[in-house]
Amino acid sequence: MNSRFAYALGFSLAWSTAGMATAETVWLDDLNLAAATQGWGDPHKNQSVEGHPLTIGGKRFERGFGTHAAGLLRVNLDGGAQKFSASVGVDDEVNGNAASSVEFIVRGDGRVLWQSGAMRAGAPAKDCEVDLAGVKSLVLEVSDAGDGENFDHADWADAKFETAAGRPATVPAEPPLAFVAPYMLTPAAPATPRINGANVFGVRPGSPFLFTIPATGDRPIKFSAIHLPHGLKLDSVTGQITGTLNKPGQYLVTLRAKNSLGEAEKPFRIVVGNQIALTPPMGWNSWNCFAGAVSEEMVKSAADAMVKSGLINHGWTYINVDDYWQNHRDSQDPTLRGPFRNRDGVIVPNSRFPDMKGMADYIHNLGLKAGLYSSPGPWTCGGCAASWQHEEQDAQTYAKWGFDYLKYDWCSYGEIAAGGDPNAKNIPLWGKTAKDDAGAIFPYQVMGKFLREQNRDIVFSLCQYGMADVWKWGGSVNGNCWRTTGDIVDTWKSLSGIGFKQDQAAPFAQPGNWNDPDMLIVGQVGWGNLHPSRLNPDEQYTHISLWCLLSAPLLIGCDMTKFDDFTLSLLENDEVLALDQDELGKEAMCVLKDGDVRVYEKDLADGGCALGFFNLGPAAANRQFNQLATLGFKGKLRVRDLWRQSNLPDVDAANGILPLTIPAHGVVLYKITAAK
Ligand code: GAL
Repeated sequence: MNSRFAYALGFSLAWSTAGMATAETVWLDDLNLAAATQGWGDPHKNQSVEGHPLTIGGKRFERGFGTHAAGLLRVNLDGGAQKFSASVGVDDEVNGNAASSVEFIVRGDGRVLWQSGAMRAGAPAKDCEVDLAGVKSLVLEVSDAGDGENFDHADWADAKFETAAGRPATVPAEPPLAFVAPYMLTPAAPATPRINGANVFGVRPGSPFLFTIPATGDRPIKFSAIHLPHGLKLDSVTGQITGTLNKPGQYLVTLRAKNSLGEAEKPFRIVVGNQIALTPPMGWNSWNCFAGAVSEEMVKSAADAMVKSGLINHGWTYINVDDYWQNHRDSQDPTLRGPFRNRDGVIVPNSRFPDMKGMADYIHNLGLKAGLYSSPGPWTCGGCAASWQHEEQDAQTYAKWGFDYLKYDWCSYGEIAAGGDPNAKNIPLWGKTAKDDAGAIFPYQVMGKFLREQNRDIVFSLCQYGMADVWKWGGSVNGNCWRTTGDIVDTWKSLSGIGFKQDQAAPFAQPGNWNDPDMLIVGQVGWGNLHPSRLNPDEQYTHISLWCLLSAPLLIGCDMTKFDDFTLSLLENDEVLALDQDELGKEAMCVLKDGDVRVYEKDLADGGCALGFFNLGPAAANRQFNQLATLGFKGKLRVRDLWRQSNLPDVDAANGILPLTIPAHGVVLYKITAAK
């Protein structure tokens, strides 16, 4: 429908309460709601934040604005507005979740005009009526009511203005950014051999060993290794190291790669012990591109693309299938219909995945690793069969098929943790949390134990959005990484809202235990409906730089068969990736704020330190940065621009100045080391 037409429909005539003048009703949902900012998801017109009909305390509303705390919507009233009214409350889609509480606040010209007080899930809507006489600008705010933003789904139902003159209009929080064309900073890898990737690799005693030496340079390359421990063998053509090591301990190996133009070598530490994922996992996951449409063919094509694109030569390893490899509880799609388990209780993949072991073998033969997804409840988040009461059997099945990674969600388990009936039909997939921390931890203890009992190393990735401060206990249940947030989408709001809020979890990151701010949103993404990432190029540099500083698992979320040169250049900068893969395993934190600029600092194993200067504002930021001494640096310093892989002039910590021009929403990423 044409927007002018839609707008005209939004007006209807009513009689003013203020006397003789004729008032018009302007519905909030007819204004541009995209101007809103909110803590999670996107603003919805006439729907909740998750896209359901607006429902508060059992009552359904046809119109309104569905949002999420912390939310802000600014409205310019343009003179003549007389009244604002709405029915507000937490949307019923959160299913009585105890964590969801919000407060609605209406401000006019900076003054609080109305506030709801804390409102909880299930409570009836409160009527809000605000006299707007003389008010010029209005802010509709939703706060988290002091207990965090989890499950704070907030509805401004039936929200409308009565106006005698003028036309209310929402005001975007930020003016739109100027267009930025893709620009590539990563220099091409040299034709001579270079060995990339992590310096360390962890394996458990007796587990199958698979490591592919990531190396760039003209092919053919001949690989060799000095001091490779007994039990391992190296294929000199593919660079794949396989075998098993039974004795716990450390092995210091030298990896070598030689081609007709030269030779490279690199020290490499193999640690045989309890801990795996000594550096954050790097790979691909099917969700952000294919979501519920994934198939074995798509997964194999992704694995092929990981090799053909050359990304395997930069350390990218895992090919992970997310939700929808199982049969679905109620989908009409014939490819998702079939038995959930066989007579022995073994999970049965859907018809799009005819040969799970064959698929894992295919991935391994390429030198890559394979990942899978499940949930502790009876159903996954998408409504497919999950692991409830089959945890041990599932762990055994994954190992038998040859999977190396399990992402384990929370969906539908919430109902069980909250005391509901797991066998009830249509058990809610979303919304419920455990009664206490022990209840939130329990399902991960169960699966963590069974995964550990398998005779292969399976990276355990927890996906429960940070509940019960997962970073404090994820390691104790054998977790290797854990999501700290809800799902990311490819917008600046989502990226910045998640990426710049990781400080509280940061001190808990260490080799084998990583905070996961969710998967990458560069390239062609779209959850079953592909489009180029809506992040502009500067925002994409911010994304990759920040995730590497945060020591985040790096899981590419795009269709890798559709790479463009810009996206590839973001994913193959070895000096940037080296921050993520640094063996010290320290996660960066924000150490300075200066207006819109945030400075993140990450200590590195070689004694150096990475500094990310991020500009969260809508215009380029220029700074003469002179706070190196404040950050604890001393003496003469070497400054390296990691994206450009080139050195700047040395500076002195005491009085040196780093001139910075940081694009809007962009980054400058430096590594600082002592100058020789
Ligand atoms: C969500 C999870 C997503 C994806 C999805 C599958 O809970 O956060 O990353 O796995 O479930 O249904």
